[in-house]
Amino acid sequence: MNTLASPTPAPTAPETAARGSDPDSHRWYPKGTHITVRGLTKRFDGATIYENFDLDIPKGKIISIFGPNGCGKSTLINMISGILPFDSGRILFEGKEAWETRMGYVFQNYREAVFPWMRAIDNIRYPLQYLDIPKGERQARVDRLVENFEVKFDLNRYPYEMSGGQQQLVSIMRALVVDPEVLFLDEPFSALDYETVMVLRGQLQAVLTERQVTTLLVSHDLDEAVLLADEVMLLTKRPTRVSERLAFEAPRPRTADTTVGEEFIRVKTRALEIFQSEVRK
Ligand SMILES: Nc1ncnc2c1ncn2[C@@H]1O[C@H](COP(=O)(O)OP(=O)(O)O)[C@@H](O)[C@H]1O
Ligand SMILES: [Mg+2]
Repeated sequence: MNTLASPTPAPTAPETAARGSDPDSHRWYPKGTHITVRGLTKRFDGATIYENFDLDIPKGKIISIFGPNGCGKSTLINMISGILPFDSGRILFEGKEAWETRMGYVFQNYREAVFPWMRAIDNIRYPLQYLDIPKGERQARVDRLVENFEVKFDLNRYPYEMSGGQQQLVSIMRALVVDPEVLFLDEPFSALDYETVMVLRGQLQAVLTERQVTTLLVSHDLDEAVLLADEVMLLTKRPTRVSERLAFEAPRPRTADTTVGEEFIRVKTRALEIFQSEVRK
């Protein structure tokens, strides 16, 4: 196994002693891994969602998370992103803690996620105030995003003057403006019409491929989960485990044509088989 220790001293973990003589052993991760989850346990009101759950997420890839309703998809990305506390376990990013890692998060409900009292442009800029970067660089980042996403509407508009798709686009740009190491998306397109979804998916895919951001995408739409992913991760019912991980290596950019390809159909069919056998349990 490839081992790497972080340059920063390891915060002492209560369970470290039980893991052998190396106090840094919780920082070990296989080569090419970005996110390491070890021994994760999460309960809600006594119901166990995750029990001693392990996971390795590769760096710079798009991972789709697909699984039965209520199995804990949102819970998982919320714990990894540091939004939600867990009962025990460790989650590290190339050996670093969550607070040492730049992240972006796109919520499912854009209506509650964009700040209604701020213009689109100020929503997008908002996280930059927390980063120590020069003013010129801030503007350059926003300009680059506007160019990447081919934004055609007036960014001086307030959210109430924007369509749902435009609001979610603002939300995606706000998540990316920090130049995140990890991006989380929780069913980001589920509340939008099909035409808007197709455009946003295409743009997001282009940006993520160019920037190679490690991305965790929760989707309840299997076509979308496969289409965007380098890997589809299928979850079981609770207590939740990874049932199977399916690689999808079709060339990018992926379009509607991709979905009639042999490889797409093979991966989707297998994913559906696993999903159905899981929901029947
Ligand atoms: N804050 C909470 N308090 C209690 N139960 C919760 C809470 N959040 C989620 N749950 C429960 O945990 C399970 C997993 O939820 P969630 O991660 O939202 O599922 P999904 O896979 O649909 O995203 C569900 O049964 C849900 O009801
Ligand atoms: Mg959810």
